[in-house]
Parts: sequence; C-alpha cells; structure tokens
Amino acid sequence: MAISNFKKKIAVFLSGRGSNLKNLYKFSKTKSSKFTIHLVISNKKDTKGILFSKSKKIKSYSIDKKMSEFERKSLFLISRENIDVICLAGFMRILSKTFVQKCKIPIINIHPSLLPKYKGLKTHARAIENKDVYSGCTVHHVTSKLDSGTIILQKKVKILKKDTATTLSKKVLKVEHQIYPIALNKIC
Ligand code: GRF
Repeated sequence: MAISNFKKKIAVFLSGRGSNLKNLYKFSKTKSSKFTIHLVISNKKDTKGILFSKSKKIKSYSIDKKMSEFERKSLFLISRENIDVICLAGFMRILSKTFVQKCKIPIINIHPSLLPKYKGLKTHARAIENKDVYSGCTVHHVTSKLDSGTIILQKKVKILKKDTATTLSKKVLKVEHQIYPIALNKIC
C-alpha cells in the first residue's frame, strides 16, 4: 500500500469559544500530526473560534443562516477545498441526515460525556445529579442519530463530591484537549 506524505485536510465546524479548535491547531503544528486545519466554519458571526482561525490565516467562514443554507454552503466549501475529515468542535446544531449522507468523508465529534451515557446537552449536571463516580468525554463518528455513531476514543475523569457542573466541565475539557487530536490522528 502506498504511504501518503500529505497531511489530511481538516474542516472544523464550531459555534463558540473554540478551545478545541485552538488545541487541534496547536497539535497540527507538531511533528506527530497527520493533519492540517484547512477550513473553519462557524454557524454564528464573530465567535471566538472564528476570530482565532482568522488570526491564524485559516480559511474561515461564518454562515449565520438557516440550517439548509448552512449545509448547502458548507458542502460546497468542503468539496471545493478537498477536505478529508470534518471535525465538530462545540458545534451546537444538528446536521441533517441528507448532509451526513451527501458528505462522503468522515465527520467526527467530541462530546462531554462517556457515551452512550448523556447524549445531548447538560451532560455534567446530569452526571452529578445521578451521583456518577466518573464522567469524561468521547470522540465519535457522526451519524444522522444524535451522539450515537461509533466511538473512536474515550477518557474518564473522576467526579469528586465537591464537583459542580462548572468544575466538572473544566476537568472534562482538559481531557477533551488530550484525546481529540489523538483520535483525529488515528483516523487520518
Ligand atoms: C466542548 O465541551 C465539547 O465537548 C462540546 O462543546 C464544548 C466546546 O468547547 N461539544 P470549545 O468551543 O471547543 O471550547
């Protein structure tokens, strides 16, 4: 099998602060990285994430439109830029079944819980409320069913008695930053 020397081109979709984007970008600059961040698309204008990507001269687009328009434009950009993998990183919209089917490349997501537990929102509060001993995060393939695709990588963190949803989210975010680049490298 031929071994490619080319790094895979990644598109990141986000809606907000973009700490996972920053972290993927930082990793992409290391020797071990099999990818480059080539394109960033936000569904909102002037998010911290998009300001960061612009500052790094990454091709950046804010598509603050209804979802069908967002998907139409994104698919066009993905194809025009020859993107290999889409990474969702704090992307707060649900991609349609049609988008997932039309997109012939892998789409992956980072979710702040130990899936299959706590799909959707408020994962930290739900884990604390249920007196779970562990929480964590999961990188998984995206399918048309919310937070249900094949798991690529997971990492646990211990929930302490004194943890609140806020302190737990900070601890989980740290491990998100550890595993997302590793999971992405794995599929590149
Ligand atoms: C992360 O907790 C991620 O797991 C979830 O949304 C948050 C995004 O954070 N999907 P950031 O925008 O990457 O800082």
